Amino acid sequence: MDRKLVCLISQSEIAAIVKQLAQSLDRDYAQRSPVMISILKGSFIFLADLVRAMNTPISTIEFMRLSSYGALTVSSGQAEIVMGVPEQVVKGRDVIVIEDIMDTGITTTTVLAYLERYHPASLKLCALLDKPDRRRVPVTIDYLGFTFPDRFIVGYGIDYARQYRQLPEIYALEEQHRVREPLV
Ligand code: IMP
Ligand code: MG
Repeated sequence: MDRKLVCLISQSEIAAIVKQLAQSLDRDYAQRSPVMISILKGSFIFLADLVRAMNTPISTIEFMRLSSYGALTVSSGQAEIVMGVPEQVVKGRDVIVIEDIMDTGITTTTVLAYLERYHPASLKLCALLDKPDRRRVPVTIDYLGFTFPDRFIVGYGIDYARQYRQLPEIYALEEQHRVREPLV
């Protein structure tokens, strides 16, 4: 089976949404200095653009890592924290989790439950993309960029089997059935 890339969101559309999200965060965190926690690897480009579009001073940027899908395009149904953050980074702080894409909701639910145990002053979720049709665990997304029906997304930091993260646009990765020449 071949795969093809179908462009869904252009660079300028991404930039416009990132700017809107940054403005919402600036408005809501005006008197505070939030902690941003980015979920690796998929959200690294989103995080980099988002923080540069914000004016609010950020007290620290941290990263967490969870077990990935590997070469699958469907969730394994489990998420394991491979790299966490120190408790003192979270305790009593205003924490914003930065996620690339919300699918079943299992990864984010795991992250939020882990961070809650460290008693943040507040805990919010900012996600670039959401595929609500795929949700298996309910999650409140406080700041959201785009909503999509169920398609496999790549680009702008998001991968399929470690490929395509560097693409500046957002694409759907679609299976393409090869047309065979008839055997005569
Ligand atoms: P969830 O735990 O099923 O919500 O999956 C969330 C994580 O799976 C995201 O942070 C992504 O890393 C990955 N993921 C979910 N959907 C896609 C997709 O369409 N393309 C690439 N990665 C995805
Ligand atoms: Mg991810």
